[in-house]
Amino acid sequence: VRGVDIFTYRGEYDKGYEDLREQMEPIFIANWKMNLFEKEALAFVRDLAVPKTGSVIIAPPATLLFPLKQAIKGKSLALCGQNFFFEEKGAYTGELSASQLKDSGASYALIGHSERRHYFNESDAWIHQKLKSALAHHLIPILCVGETLDEKEEGKEEEVLSKQLHTALEGSDEKALSSLVIAYEPVWAIGTGLAADLFLIERGHAFIRKWLEKHYPAIATKIPILYGGSVNEKNAASFLSLQEVAGLLVGGASLAAPPFNAIIRS
Ligand code: 13P
Repeated sequence: VRGVDIFTYRGEYDKGYEDLREQMEPIFIANWKMNLFEKEALAFVRDLAVPKTGSVIIAPPATLLFPLKQAIKGKSLALCGQNFFFEEKGAYTGELSASQLKDSGASYALIGHSERRHYFNESDAWIHQKLKSALAHHLIPILCVGETLDEKEEGKEEEVLSKQLHTALEGSDEKALSSLVIAYEPVWAIGTGLAADLFLIERGHAFIRKWLEKHYPAIATKIPILYGGSVNEKNAASFLSLQEVAGLLVGGASLAAPPFNAIIRS
């Protein structure tokens, strides 16, 4: 299957999920990571196009949440925190809580992004606590999962995804999880310019969907699964053509309005 024309490939893993796409409008997330200043952020919002369908969420650095909360008034845009600490409040210098994220205008929060896992040693146990804290404060969690290059080369993708899902979601009430969004971001595809091919994306997404069906049958088909990793204006349409891809989590190509507009209009 690999090496086929990605613009025409419709794969085996999409079978059985044909109607999922009709139920879910695509979600586009601009994850700015540690980039941009207030002036650029405001210009981005000013120049942002309206997506063909679906919704747009901006995940700015925490310093830009408040100004963006003002700037997006009257627009159909939402904000997402890139990070928070799971404790309610207290002596945690440098941290901010889920309720502070909410207060600053965020309705979503990224949890378990590979950069937090790898540069800041965030463990699965922490990710679990953060997920619980997000749900308790009605912040919609965007749980990021994905294997590293080594894990991929050892054929451990499913083992890794399953462990990440298990530890993050374990013990959570099925009903509470109905707002959950999952992003499949293979670590080797993040910031490398090497996006996963359609086969791998379908396979990863189908595995996550099957895992959800097994453990949370009542809500499994309601949970959007996004793809992230070197998404750009050239490959976005092909990813969105997969039934299982309910949206895109975009890093580098979301740092300016023109490439991101091309993605949300594709
Ligand atoms: P890039 O789009 O820069 O590869 O980043 C992906 C990502 O990590 C989004 O969260």
